[in-house]
Amino acid sequence: MPIPLSLESVPTENDMAGPLVSTPPKLLLADPEPDKATWIPPLLQEKYVLQFARNGQEAITKMTEGYAPDLVLLNVTLPDTDGPTFLEKMHHFLETQGIPVILLADHADVVMEQRGLELGAADYVTLPVIPAILQRRIHNQLAVHTTHKQIQHYLDVERNKLQKLVAIAKDLSMERDIDSLLRKILHGGKDLTYADKATLYLRTENNQLRFAYLSSGDQLPSFLLPLYDPETGQEVHRFVATHVALTGESVLLEDLYNNAGTFDVSGTLSYDRATGYRSQAMLTVALKPREGVPLGVLQLINPVHPETKTIVPFDPEWIGFVEALATQGAIALDNLNLMQAQENLFNAIIRVMASAIDAKSPYTGGHCERVPMLGNMLAEAACNADSGPFAHFSMSKDDWKEFHLAGWMHDCGKVTTPEVVVDKATKLECVSNRIHEIRMRFEVLWRDAQIDHLQHRLAGHNPDAAQLQATLATLRDDFAFIARCNVGDDLMTSPHLARIQEIASRTWQRYFDDRLGLSNMEELRLADTPPSSVLPAREPLLMDRPEHKQPRQNTRLSYDPVALGITLKIPEYSYNFGEIYNLCIPRGTLNAEERFKINEHVIHTLVMLRQLPFPKGMTRVPELASSHHETMKGTGYPCGLNRDQMSIQARILAIADIFEALTAVDRPYKKAKTLSESLKIMRFMCKDQHIDRDVFALFLTSGIYRQYAETHLKAEQWDDVNIEELLLNL
Ligand SMILES: [Fe+2]
Ligand SMILES: [Fe+2]
Repeated sequence: MPIPLSLESVPTENDMAGPLVSTPPKLLLADPEPDKATWIPPLLQEKYVLQFARNGQEAITKMTEGYAPDLVLLNVTLPDTDGPTFLEKMHHFLETQGIPVILLADHADVVMEQRGLELGAADYVTLPVIPAILQRRIHNQLAVHTTHKQIQHYLDVERNKLQKLVAIAKDLSMERDIDSLLRKILHGGKDLTYADKATLYLRTENNQLRFAYLSSGDQLPSFLLPLYDPETGQEVHRFVATHVALTGESVLLEDLYNNAGTFDVSGTLSYDRATGYRSQAMLTVALKPREGVPLGVLQLINPVHPETKTIVPFDPEWIGFVEALATQGAIALDNLNLMQAQENLFNAIIRVMASAIDAKSPYTGGHCERVPMLGNMLAEAACNADSGPFAHFSMSKDDWKEFHLAGWMHDCGKVTTPEVVVDKATKLECVSNRIHEIRMRFEVLWRDAQIDHLQHRLAGHNPDAAQLQATLATLRDDFAFIARCNVGDDLMTSPHLARIQEIASRTWQRYFDDRLGLSNMEELRLADTPPSSVLPAREPLLMDRPEHKQPRQNTRLSYDPVALGITLKIPEYSYNFGEIYNLCIPRGTLNAEERFKINEHVIHTLVMLRQLPFPKGMTRVPELASSHHETMKGTGYPCGLNRDQMSIQARILAIADIFEALTAVDRPYKKAKTLSESLKIMRFMCKDQHIDRDVFALFLTSGIYRQYAETHLKAEQWDDVNIEELLLNL
């Protein structure tokens, strides 16, 4: 509040009633016989409120029990105390400290006077005294006392403002949430100035001011104030808020209703008309980080006197304090905006990377995008559970960020997996399907048989035509068998393997040099294999050649499996393109080396994510992301973790990963499974301790599987699911 402060404001006799002393001032007169005290000026009671005490104890009691005098007149001849003792006693009570005391003595006593003044007596008067002089002395002491109290009060107010500002600034600098920060700026400004209402506008990317926060519970108006005229492009200075946002200068309007011509305050006035409120004084300051463009505007309306509760003018001295607060808030907001922008950028990079992995192969589709969605649904259900195994499970804000990121990044290691392996659709595939090369060898054998037959006839012999037909039939049959093996649909049994070996052992004649037209890499691989010295060369129909094996030292591991705790078995060769070897793959189309290459993606997920400096609170992202192929019984990969070694979030991601893969509708190579088929497979995996029982049960009982299906699966996949049956003896 504005405080009159200058030595000129020391009260006169007519102006004694300052705001910090009683009106009229209160005096306490301590004398053994006040009725007979000749020293009491006769006009005293006309100007002051008087109370009397007959001894020291009574005087102390009056002062500590409600009567707070502005000055004490004490006759040192009291029966129970003398002046110095009384002054010492006054130091013991909070209520009596600082009250000026004039000591009165019947006779001059230098020792008493000196001691009294040392102990804080304001004055020492020897009786008799001329009443008018005593009255002047009383007035002077009250004036000094009032001035002292005013200075003290002013300092208290300033200290209080500074303390408030420091506390708010500290609070702002520690805030990590933009919404909370803006509310703190709003309420900080309001509290600092005792304003009745406060409003915060934020600058939009389109150079407008948007109503962002109101201190009252009123509904936020939704209009936008343009900073530039849309037609002329000129700055809009007619509104207080836009003017402040454009210039960064504070504006103090004392009376909005007598402000015509300065600013257009019609918006505020129409708000007043609608609500019955009366906006009077308004202080508007910019949220301007140092040397930056204002990020918004803080508007404070109607300061209220903390004691009288009346609306008073804004003290111009406050502008500096509010500007300091607004600057501090703007710096904190600028920092948070920057952090938010960095977080948004990071999240965008993660999403781009995940969609790049999804786009890399039709075998993954939108997997990397859907797994975190499903994971979030499951984690929310776990957090919301108020009974059962997840009753006490909760996730902090950082936990959510960590989990979300782990979901998006769980297959990021797939960027290292060669497409040729991911997409390998036949056993002989190696960039192209080598069945055609092998078929050509059969074609050669076919023609060789016919040529041989015809050459015998040319030589005048009579070769057996039936024998030729039998040979050709065998070739056709054998090729059909090899082609079928190549597809990988059948489980390879011993007779299958024996027949492959038998077919492979047949030979064909090569007339051309097989060392022509090679790449550097091929030549390197063949460096230790001498070429055939004689052409034509007779070669087996199918072969596992030394150069088919690619030693691992040629494609060194980019990680230390021991340091990472990897238990996944690493094959000796990075690739093996052997024809017999691949045709003999027992099931499917991938050999051991290729299977490892596929599974290795989680190792790369772990390695890649471990290289990122995740902030405190999100350090588990690498572990969470890379454990989605672990099993509850410890047979998974890459580290062979078991249930106890996996967090709930990791177990959730593992289930999200499997369910998405089973039900995905965007894989061109396979038919998507229905809900009941997928859940039956997962029940089997649960019984086999492959996936977590609690999370799977939550998945079923929460209905998330159906919720997910409604958004991401085709209607024909939504078949009936018998939850009781699936949960039975789980
Ligand atoms: Fe994976
Ligand atoms: Fe996955």
